[in-house]
Amino acid sequence: MAMNNRPIGVMDSGIGGLTVVRELQRLLPGEDIIYFGDSANCPYGNRTTEQITQLSKNMLQFLGDQGAKTTAIACNTISTLVDRLIPCFDYHIIGIVSPAADAIARDGLREVGLIATEFTARSGAYEKLIHAHDPSIEVFAQGSPLLAGLVDRGDFNEEEINAEITTQVDKILARRRVSHIILGCTHYPIVEENFKKCYPEITFINPALEQAKAVQRYLAEQDAFSPKTRGTFTVCTSGDPQVYLNVAKRLGLFEPDDAKVVEI
Ligand code: SIN
Repeated sequence: MAMNNRPIGVMDSGIGGLTVVRELQRLLPGEDIIYFGDSANCPYGNRTTEQITQLSKNMLQFLGDQGAKTTAIACNTISTLVDRLIPCFDYHIIGIVSPAADAIARDGLREVGLIATEFTARSGAYEKLIHAHDPSIEVFAQGSPLLAGLVDRGDFNEEEINAEITTQVDKILARRRVSHIILGCTHYPIVEENFKKCYPEITFINPALEQAKAVQRYLAEQDAFSPKTRGTFTVCTSGDPQVYLNVAKRLGLFEPDDAKVVEI
């Protein structure tokens, strides 16, 4: 099938990648999107490198088999391992950390906070890619063992979510009163309003837009844009499709054409 007519793949450990779908649908509304969210195994941030690699390969294989012209790895945790995943596949793959780090370095910030899964925070991936532009930018990283899982549950318990946000963000602020904090896990922009209510003085950076722009640049380079004005949106998950339908609505996405359980 001509590349133009093939879908964009989006994958995540769970519902978090729907925040990337939101940006893709705004920028590229004519593109078909096929999404895989591995909620049965979420959160990935508390798993080992070997587990994350194997689970991610299964998703990339599935999306490749569906004919994806590129797959956006929306999950930050998986994206820290993108260099070991890309060589295993013969189609195009885009992580989220690299485009976000590039944009942050270009923004001229001298210091920035990062809240992410413990895996992403420990990996140093954001620091490494930001420092490739400018080693003098200070990054204050803090891992949360709980927040991705709390959000992926889909019941949005304000008390539990706000308690975890304030516990972890306060630790960043105790080290430095930064004005900007990266939401370095795709699940976090779903509860961005909670972050803003708890810390109205801080600007929270959502990496999803930069990843969507990177997808757009790739399609432009390949002359691979869809000719349609409105694309289809298919949700596949190892979890409960109803949670995805609810969150798609909460985020104002195009209504999924299909939402189904898929075993990979
Ligand atoms: C996770 O599954 O642990 C979170 C996803 C992410 O890091 O974006």
